[in-house]
Amino acid sequence: MPVVVCSLLAGFCGLLNLQELDLQENMFNGNIPECFNTLSSLKMFDISSNLFTGTLSPSLMANLTSLQYVDFSYNKFEGPFSFSSFSNHTKLKLKVLVLSNCNINRAKGNVFPSFLVKQHKLQVLDMSHNSMKGQLPNWVIKHNPMLEVLILRNNLFYGTIMLFRTNHNIRLFDLSGNLLTGVIPKFIQRFLPGISHLDLSSNSLDGVIPSSIGDMSELNVLDLSNNKLCGEVPSGLIANNSRLLYTVKLSNNKLHGEVLSGNFSLDGIWNLHLDNNNFTGNIGNLAITGSLGLLDISNNFFTGLIPSWISNVSIISELVLRNNSLEGPFPCGTTSFTFLDISENLLSGPIPSCLNTRRLEHLHLGSNSFTGPIPDSFRNLTKVLTLDLSNNYLSGEIPSFFGKLSNLIILLLRENNLMGSIPKQLCQLTNVSLLDLSNNSLSGSIPSCLHNITGPSYQAFVQESTALSHAPSFYS
Ligand SMILES: *[C@@H]1O[C@H](CO)[C@@H](O)[C@H](O)[C@H]1NC(C)=O
Ligand SMILES: *[C@@H]1O[C@H](CO)[C@@H](O)[C@H](O)[C@H]1NC(C)=O
Ligand SMILES: *[C@@H]1O[C@H](CO)[C@@H](O)[C@H](O)[C@H]1NC(C)=O
Ligand SMILES: *[C@@H]1O[C@H](CO)[C@@H](O)[C@H](O)[C@H]1NC(C)=O
Ligand SMILES: *[C@@H]1O[C@H](CO)[C@@H](O)[C@H](O)[C@H]1NC(C)=O
Ligand SMILES: *[C@@H]1O[C@H](CO)[C@@H](O)[C@H](O)[C@H]1NC(C)=O
Ligand SMILES: *[C@@H]1O[C@H](CO)[C@@H](O)[C@H](O)[C@H]1NC(C)=O
Ligand SMILES: *[C@@H]1O[C@H](CO)[C@@H](O)[C@H](O)[C@H]1NC(C)=O
Ligand SMILES: *[C@@H]1O[C@H](CO)[C@@H](O)[C@H](O)[C@H]1NC(C)=O
Ligand SMILES: *[C@@H]1O[C@H](CO)[C@@H](O)[C@H](O)[C@H]1NC(C)=O
Ligand SMILES: *[C@@H]1O[C@H](CO)[C@@H](O)[C@H](O)[C@H]1NC(C)=O
Repeated sequence: MPVVVCSLLAGFCGLLNLQELDLQENMFNGNIPECFNTLSSLKMFDISSNLFTGTLSPSLMANLTSLQYVDFSYNKFEGPFSFSSFSNHTKLKLKVLVLSNCNINRAKGNVFPSFLVKQHKLQVLDMSHNSMKGQLPNWVIKHNPMLEVLILRNNLFYGTIMLFRTNHNIRLFDLSGNLLTGVIPKFIQRFLPGISHLDLSSNSLDGVIPSSIGDMSELNVLDLSNNKLCGEVPSGLIANNSRLLYTVKLSNNKLHGEVLSGNFSLDGIWNLHLDNNNFTGNIGNLAITGSLGLLDISNNFFTGLIPSWISNVSIISELVLRNNSLEGPFPCGTTSFTFLDISENLLSGPIPSCLNTRRLEHLHLGSNSFTGPIPDSFRNLTKVLTLDLSNNYLSGEIPSFFGKLSNLIILLLRENNLMGSIPKQLCQLTNVSLLDLSNNSLSGSIPSCLHNITGPSYQAFVQESTALSHAPSFYS
């Protein structure tokens, strides 16, 4: 087969007037035929998403002086990129250069191709996922006023972000997953007024979130997560969002302040990640009338009641309120969650029995002060994979219908006041890998099938203060 493919490709080589060669998303393999260097009229050269191997030889490009659009991404080339042949092309006017994830060996020492210094017409530059090293090439933005898309994601660039002049065309700016330090430029909005997607996540940026980000009127996606940002969230950023803002990720920083305490609405925002910061304040006044896809405020210091609208939003898939200081009952409603984690709070009252169970896959209510029996409505948790009710004040018996929740992988009932015997129906849970019933008031014998759950790292926890001498708490 490779022979056929090779001669097939080599057949293009006679086409001296060929202007566009688009081979993307095939299964071509082997080296790029050397004779491609005769295609001197080529403007568009797209071989992305194939299985090409070998090194990109300098002589391959030496003749291709008409190139404007180059996409070599998602191949299996090896060795360092060599673009020295490009550097002699004074006429070269590249508009699109996409070299994302095109080097399987991620050769150490790959540096940003210096011939780009002479390029001034770039519209799209994507060098993501290549382990490139060196100082962040801030000059790319300065040199290319037509730049619309700059993606340097997942490399090893260091240094600080510097902007020199206003670029009205930039829509997508992604420097995530590098080693950048320093602050986010204070007047970033003035330099990138038309930006819709700004991703500076997973670097080591510090300082505050500039308030000018709140003035970016075209912003859709803002990801500043996994940095060392401190201070408060600018008030214009998420309150009463009348813009196109869709995703905001501020997770894993050192931000503080009462970000959700004002009298404002989250309308319009679809994904909001505020987890793992030092946020405080009462969230009870927060409003929403539309829909919301994901809200994660876990691992903060939020207080107050869970707003009742949370249970009546037309669509909300994932609600993660874990590890805050929220109080009161969980509000009743019709919202259909797939992931609901309200564990590690100060919630009380009966276990929410009015939950819409239809789509729930992960239900985590552990480490609260819920009381009463496990509600009968949980028999409808037919999709549930992980169920954590541990460390509450639940009473009554373990319902036998748990045996019918056949998708269950993890069932945690530890540290409650559950009584009675372990229903033998739990033996039907063939996929369960973690079942923890320890620290209850269970009695009787352990169903023999549970003795057979012996995963590689089997562990049984000795029960304290129960009638059962050996807790059926199995880890695998
Ligand atoms: C450039 O193309 C010409 C034919 O068009 C060929 O003779 C020459 O060897 C090529 N140069 C390189 C460096 O490949
Ligand atoms: C580029 O030009 C320089 C000077 O003319 C020459 O020494 C070098 O070999 C050329 N490089 C390539 C890859 O053609
Ligand atoms: C976050 O809050 C904790 C507890 O109040 C405090 O010890 C810590 O210093 C705070 N961290 C920052 C970065 O503000
Ligand atoms: C919030 O603002 C709205 C509209 O101005 C007002 O109706 C409502 O009473 C306010 N709520 C609070 C808690 O201040
Ligand atoms: C948000 O809108 C409400 C209702 O229009 C208004 O009362 C409130 O002051 C606004 N809040 C902010 C922070 O802009
Ligand atoms: C709870 O959140 C706080 C604040 O982010 C964090 O310091 C603490 O480690 C978290 N606790 C757990 C158990 O995750
Ligand atoms: C939410 O829906 C439930 C059931 O339809 C209803 O009883 C409750 O009043 C609603 N709550 C709000 C805040 O709309
Ligand atoms: C379970 O779901 C069915 C069908 O939606 C519904 O009729 C029934 O009332 C539910 N059972 C409980 C105990 O909520
Ligand atoms: C158990 O897990 C296997 C593999 O993940 C899956 O194919 C199967 O459907 C599961 N069985 C049940 C009853 O959920
Ligand atoms: C059982 O509960 C007691 C009292 O709440 C607690 O001290 C102990 O650590 C718990 N044991 C386990 C194994 O969780
Ligand atoms: C436990 O495993 C043994 C050996 O595989 C088997 O003979 C026995 O029937 C199993 N017991 C139950 C209750 O599944």
